Amino acid sequence: MKVAVIGGTGGMGKMLARKLASKNQVIIGSRDPTKAKAAADEVPGATGAGYLTAAGESEAVAFAIPFSAIDSVSGLKDAAAGKLVISMINPMKMVQGLFTYALDVGSAAERLAGVLPKSRVATAFNNVPAGFLRDEVVPPVDILIAADAKETYEEAAELVRGIREMRPLYAGPLSEARVVESITPLVLNLARLNGTNALTTRFVTRKG
Ligand SMILES: NC(=O)c1ccc[n+]([C@@H]2O[C@H](COP(=O)([O-])OP(=O)(O)OC[C@H]3O[C@@H](n4cnc5c(N)ncnc54)[C@H](OP(=O)(O)O)[C@@H]3O)[C@@H](O)[C@H]2O)c1
Repeated sequence: MKVAVIGGTGGMGKMLARKLASKNQVIIGSRDPTKAKAAADEVPGATGAGYLTAAGESEAVAFAIPFSAIDSVSGLKDAAAGKLVISMINPMKMVQGLFTYALDVGSAAERLAGVLPKSRVATAFNNVPAGFLRDEVVPPVDILIAADAKETYEEAAELVRGIREMRPLYAGPLSEARVVESITPLVLNLARLNGTNALTTRFVTRKG
């Protein structure tokens, strides 16, 4: 699949681009095409382009941008129309030394769906710290996907399955994105408070 990673020059975007590039044709998107091309040089098989070109030339568009930048990508509405859009955006703030979910209502994924109304939006990769993706071999990880249609979940799940040791799990409609996103401050706090390396989600199944 041809996948654009918007914000693919950043900490998370570049790591994810690297993982996706083993099975997909990845276009790293940046507001600055020169910066995109420089980032693509570090990701074998990837190319780089401005946001509009990257989104327009891809079949799926993944967003690894800050929450505060969501409104600024409304210009991609038509380029991303009819396509799978993946949001890994987490709205977070620090409160008394703890990472805290920053929204009183709704979620980043629903806000992204609001500015890209012609796209099929799903969450994915929200809870995986970029450091997890740096290594060649990733420990088993569950990737929680919220999406309104089960077909949209399946499309996103296929991308997730292409990354070794990643298991997609359906988390329900996009209204559940809030729950998925709010796990991110929890895993960051757990790692800090317990003095461990980065943590992420992995659920266990009862035997029998
Ligand atoms: N870091 C992680 O471990 C991690 C894990 C899971 C999810 N996430 C989520 O992924 C998103 C990106 O996180 P990150 O840590 O990769 O951030 P980052 O290193 O700051 O990268 C964000 C990228 O977004 C682009 N961008 C677009 N509009 C922007 C704006 N107004 N201000 C700043 N950057 C803008 C920038 O690319 P250009 O300048 O090239 O356009 C930048 O490289 C966040 O929503 C975060 O919650 C992060």
